[in-house]
Amino acid sequence: MPFSLRFVVPLALALAAIAYAVVPLVDRLTFQWFVRDLDARGALITQTAQEPLADLLNQPRVAKTRVLRYFDRILRGERIYALGYCDKAGRLAMATLAFPRSVRCPEGASAEPRSYVLTLPDGPLHVSINPLAAEGAAFGHLVIVHDMSFVQRRSDDTKKYVLILFGCIALVVALITMLIAEISWRGWVAGVKALLSGETLLRAPLGLKDPAAEVRPELQPIARDLQALVQDLEAERRVRDESQTTWGPEALRRILRQDLKGDEILIVSNREPYLHMRRKDNVVEIQRPASGLVTALEPVMRACSGTWIAHGAGSADRDTVDRNDHVMVPPERPSYRIRRVWLSEAEERGYYFGFANEGLWPLCHIAHTRPSFRAEDWEYYQTVNRRFAEVVQQEVRTADPIILVQDYHFALLPRMIRERLPRATIITFWHIPWPNPEAFGILPWREEVLEGLLGSSILGFHTQFHCNNFFDTVDRYLEARVDRETFTISYGGNPTEVRRYPISIEWPPAALQVQPPVEECRSRVRERLGIGKHVKLGVGVDRLDYTKGILERLMAVERLLELEPRWIGQFAFLQAAAPSRTSIEEYQHLDAKVQQLAARINERFGRPGYQPVILRIEHHDAAQVYELYRAAELCYVSSLHDGMNLVAKEFVAARDDEQGVLLLSQFTGAARELPEALIVNPYDIEQSAAAMHLALTMSPEEQRARMRSMRALVHEFNVYRWAGRMLLDAARMRHRRRVLSRARAAAAREAAAG
Ligand code: G6P
Repeated sequence: MPFSLRFVVPLALALAAIAYAVVPLVDRLTFQWFVRDLDARGALITQTAQEPLADLLNQPRVAKTRVLRYFDRILRGERIYALGYCDKAGRLAMATLAFPRSVRCPEGASAEPRSYVLTLPDGPLHVSINPLAAEGAAFGHLVIVHDMSFVQRRSDDTKKYVLILFGCIALVVALITMLIAEISWRGWVAGVKALLSGETLLRAPLGLKDPAAEVRPELQPIARDLQALVQDLEAERRVRDESQTTWGPEALRRILRQDLKGDEILIVSNREPYLHMRRKDNVVEIQRPASGLVTALEPVMRACSGTWIAHGAGSADRDTVDRNDHVMVPPERPSYRIRRVWLSEAEERGYYFGFANEGLWPLCHIAHTRPSFRAEDWEYYQTVNRRFAEVVQQEVRTADPIILVQDYHFALLPRMIRERLPRATIITFWHIPWPNPEAFGILPWREEVLEGLLGSSILGFHTQFHCNNFFDTVDRYLEARVDRETFTISYGGNPTEVRRYPISIEWPPAALQVQPPVEECRSRVRERLGIGKHVKLGVGVDRLDYTKGILERLMAVERLLELEPRWIGQFAFLQAAAPSRTSIEEYQHLDAKVQQLAARINERFGRPGYQPVILRIEHHDAAQVYELYRAAELCYVSSLHDGMNLVAKEFVAARDDEQGVLLLSQFTGAARELPEALIVNPYDIEQSAAAMHLALTMSPEEQRARMRSMRALVHEFNVYRWAGRMLLDAARMRHRRRVLSRARAAAAREAAAG
């Protein structure tokens, strides 16, 4: 039944019942009024007629005829049905024709006037009997009979009007009731909707009047419950949004616009996305560093704009900034700015080479390189983190910006920022693995590092495994509340959400746009390397780092040639290695060892015009790297331990021909996302060599099936989604914080008022 009818039907029924009860009452009343009216009329007619009647009766000869004529004249009056004259003896002496026989004269000359209703088959008659007197002497009675059928007609009319009246009243009352009910219902619904959508309680901009005051009084008791509901709905919306969005720069911009309302965004990392380098010939050129972190974050920053704070490490960096140490990038289409932070040589040595790369880097990677912890390096690490915190404070324009802190160079920075900007949303992303508590426990400043990180609002790792290691570590070394159900750690009153956000690359990669077809890449690269067209090519692309398993990779190539000599002269492996952290002894040793191993293999299996290992220890730009990926039959990523490894994803993205085989170390985060790769244990040289053979002999159909599936995943889970998920979580967190602070303010006001 429609909502309004629920009001109208009962109302109409009630009114009909009342009308039904009222009509007989009205009927009786109107009847009595008419009887009284006719009584009075009878008395009046008698009064008027008695004198002429006495005169006529005094003329005995003509009396009867004249009286009857007189009566006829009176009869012309309205509704008088019959008249009769009763003499003193109580006999009906004269009467008009219609006078009813049943009407009797009163006995005695001076009986009191009386009246009654006589019901005949033709209808009711009113009989009034009135005494007649002349000069003080009674001379009989005048009997006046009125026709009462008009009363019946009027009574029927009255009944009809009463019913119509009640009908009208019912209609009007029903309409008014419906209107009021509808208006209040709409208001109520609007109130609930506003609560649900948070427009009143949740969405009123800060600084405006108390939103709780806007809640309808009758809704205030449920407002609190609804807040919880709203948060659940919000969370659900996020999940839906996430699964529905096509992730690209526009989706990120939409999140910034809609969910974060254009809030300020800053990134802090050690490595800057563009270095200005002065060449030997004094020309300044721009270099893009070999850094997974930069590869991932740069497209995000291009989409978001904002400020990227980083160490100015390029030799011409100081010459290219403005007086505030800013430089707009990318050079071809500036869309965000870098704020460069200058470090002295000693600071760089202690903070970057020392504590970050000789301490934390080997500590977090299980690559069997011992970490070195020096108190002096630790001092510098603290100083530089503090310096960056000050720069963040200088750069922000608002009290609650979103700050994306990157990697192990800045473990102390989140807390330092929190102390300076308590309302900032600090998202820290740890790009490298997090070790188990035993391994981490050897760090002399383990508590300080953990406390520093727990200044973050959100702390991200690539895999759940690393999140769990972090929970275990905090559980072991700090007095903190670790809630593994909500993935939250509370330390010193500040909650930190610890989440898994697997990093990725932009899709489609910008470097792919400038690539020629695969066939052309194949022939160009082979020509440049001096290898025959028929020779199959494997590639490795890394920074020259001991965690990458480059030695193990080359050993696998060597073993392949031993086990399957048919590949000698038919297969070559190109290792592109960007020099990295070259001041560190361990890296220098690695460089030497890689060169020696390559030379040994080439000596064993090379021949004029053929070298099985082609080593290129130099910087390669993105276009060159993508050309190599497209030219190769296989790509081997053999990290001994890696947070994610974006080379694996880049190789997949580069192969729009759906050919090529990825060999992937099981110790990379990427292995969890790309199981269609040939997953290997890089320490197991035999297995890796066998996997290489398998890759080189894999059918094009199988290559296509595996590559297609991996490409779909990297496409869907691209870097915009990685950043988008973090930003959506940040938006949710900020939203909740605003609601809570309003609720607290309202409670405080209530307490003050009560
Ligand atoms: C890893 C780290 C990054 C770093 C990159 C390059 O990917 O997680 O923070 O930028 O290596 O290393 P570099 O020391 O040259 O910045």
